[in-house]
Amino acid sequence: MPNDKVQIFDTTLRDGEQVPGCKLDAKQKLIIAERLDFIGVDIIEAGFPVSSPGDFTSVSQIAKIVKNATVCGLTRAVEKDIEVAAEALKFAKTPRIHTGIGTSDSHIKYKFNASKDEVIERAKNAVAYAKKYVEDVEFYAEDAGRTDNAFLAKVCEAVIQSGATVLNIPDTTGYCLPEEYGKKIKYLKENVKGIDKVTISCHCHNDLGLATANSIAGVMHGARQIECTINGIGERAGNTALEEVVMILKQHPYLNLQTDINTKLLYDTSIMVREKMGMLVQPNKAIVGANAFAHSSGIHQDGVIKNRETYEIINPEDVGVTESAIVLTARSGRAALAYRAKKIGYELTKLQLDAAYRTFLQFADKQKEVIDEDLHVIMKKVNKISKIAIA
Ligand code: KIV
Ligand code: ZN
Repeated sequence: MPNDKVQIFDTTLRDGEQVPGCKLDAKQKLIIAERLDFIGVDIIEAGFPVSSPGDFTSVSQIAKIVKNATVCGLTRAVEKDIEVAAEALKFAKTPRIHTGIGTSDSHIKYKFNASKDEVIERAKNAVAYAKKYVEDVEFYAEDAGRTDNAFLAKVCEAVIQSGATVLNIPDTTGYCLPEEYGKKIKYLKENVKGIDKVTISCHCHNDLGLATANSIAGVMHGARQIECTINGIGERAGNTALEEVVMILKQHPYLNLQTDINTKLLYDTSIMVREKMGMLVQPNKAIVGANAFAHSSGIHQDGVIKNRETYEIINPEDVGVTESAIVLTARSGRAALAYRAKKIGYELTKLQLDAAYRTFLQFADKQKEVIDEDLHVIMKKVNKISKIAIA
């Protein structure tokens, strides 16, 4: 079976940036857009041009500088939004308008107070209107996760007829289970006329911690685009994390799904986004968290020192992390202490290691972590009794 390409649609600058505290200025957005282009993102959602003059300007500046990726602007199913997005994207090498409307019962009733037929009409008109400006039009069925599949299929068929090139099936509220979301994509593949001419996209939120799992279920059932953000930032609990889906597909080659992301740049890109946005990443965050390649319990450390693969499924260098960290705590064993001592220049004999370990435990019981400075103090003490060789 040939490898199938999954397009990576990054929405760090739109769904990510709309989060309180994540606001970026125009220059910061340009720097991030350039980086996203450089790491191999296929589509950059640069913003929501009608939302503010500042967003319009940055979408238009991003459209001018991006070299490889498609540049996309978000709109509602409103003509004015589409006109403004088209204007902001006019210098893009490959522009895309991303338009759409809510399709769940709750959106139709409370947001629009409309009928289902009216929603279909608005969806069709928005896509047809966007097509006047650009060839590539992505349609989002907002809250598709909670939309009845038969109605969703009807909407999808209608917008394909109007010229949509990509169908975005957002789990806007992060409600779906992976099996349910995967079945939804499968249902659309099997029941929508013309579906094979378009790309199905997954856009999953993380309210139940399932955004990544749902996106993967989506591509396993036929979707070929994932919408995601660096570090998983985004509305409420966030969006699917780019680094997670990219590494899942890389680490599971038998799925025959691949992306064009240069994974060696993932860690640096994560740091860049945290610094520019001032948004910290939890230490235990998969792939890019400070502890993602850190080992602190004695049993794990002993294994990793013998062979990294005993407790690591990813080579840290593959994501741009120079090496696994052996963190010294009260749970660490002699192997870890000898390893870290050697790293700073001390080659210990078995007896010296026993002596050092006793002193080490006194330090470790008092503090969260034993650092290199402490190790020098410990080695000085041992050295007084028995001369340590320099590694
Ligand atoms: O979560 C969502 O439904 C969205 C759409 C606007 C694509 O962000
Ligand atoms: Zn979203």
